[in-house]
Amino acid sequence: MLKIDNLHAEIDGKAILNGLTLTVPAGEVHAIMGPNGAGKSTLAYVLGGRPGYEVTQGSVEFNGVDLLDLEPHERAAAGLFLGFQYPVEIPGVSNLQFLREALNAQRRARGEEALTGGEFLKLAKDRAGLLKLDPDMLKRHVNVGFSGGEKKRAEMVQMGILDPKFAVLDETDSGLDIDALRVVGDGINAIMRAPDKAVLLITHYQRLLDVVKPDKVSILSQGRIVQTGGPDLAVRLESEGYDAVMADA
Ligand SMILES: Nc1ncnc2c1ncn2[C@@H]1O[C@H](COP(=O)(O)OP(=O)(O)O)[C@@H](O)[C@H]1O
Ligand SMILES: [Mg+2]
Repeated sequence: MLKIDNLHAEIDGKAILNGLTLTVPAGEVHAIMGPNGAGKSTLAYVLGGRPGYEVTQGSVEFNGVDLLDLEPHERAAAGLFLGFQYPVEIPGVSNLQFLREALNAQRRARGEEALTGGEFLKLAKDRAGLLKLDPDMLKRHVNVGFSGGEKKRAEMVQMGILDPKFAVLDETDSGLDIDALRVVGDGINAIMRAPDKAVLLITHYQRLLDVVKPDKVSILSQGRIVQTGGPDLAVRLESEGYDAVMADA
């Protein structure tokens, strides 16, 4: 589903990704772990098409198309979703307005009909229920005054509504308490665990992986994948640390 080959990328002329190769087939959740500054968020931004990140070499194929050739909104319409480490606040725009606009823009880009207000509201309430987010929160402005946990829940509701084929989740678990962590983990499972979907899950913590249960775990270090294994690799990292595990490789 996602095929990253020998990807090199730089910011302001500084090389951050240095020949990153990674394939994520449909139906799988692939966890990415790695030390601070390894390039994990950079990978997420490059996949999303954030301006300022220049790809100098390599390719990314998404369901048979050249992802790097698409504008960010085209990537979203093609089914790519990016969950951010630090969700942004948008004063003046309610979650419901924002989500309906986003969903209908994607539907139109795919040649599908836009949802009516009633249809959309039903979907939004359903997804909020799934993520145990009070539906009234959706009337509030995007992330304004939300606690860290509420932002992450709202982001999962957003993912549930947009229903992407491929989600890149960058430290969605950072700053969550134990209960919120389970809600997010269960949400990922409910929304993204399907034979025709896949997830790239960037995380530092085994505790989210206890809920989501990744098919594969890779270590990203200095801009490339240096090791790939099963869920046990994450367990080893948690107990032994990056240096010890990478030294063994
Ligand atoms: N806008 C930027 N300008 C210059 N360097 C940056 C910028 N953003 C990130 N970097 C550098 O890129 C490296 C990788 O950062 P990042 O992808 O955020 O790592 P991670 O998410 O793995 O912690 C770091 O050394 C960081 O300082
Ligand atoms: Mg990061």
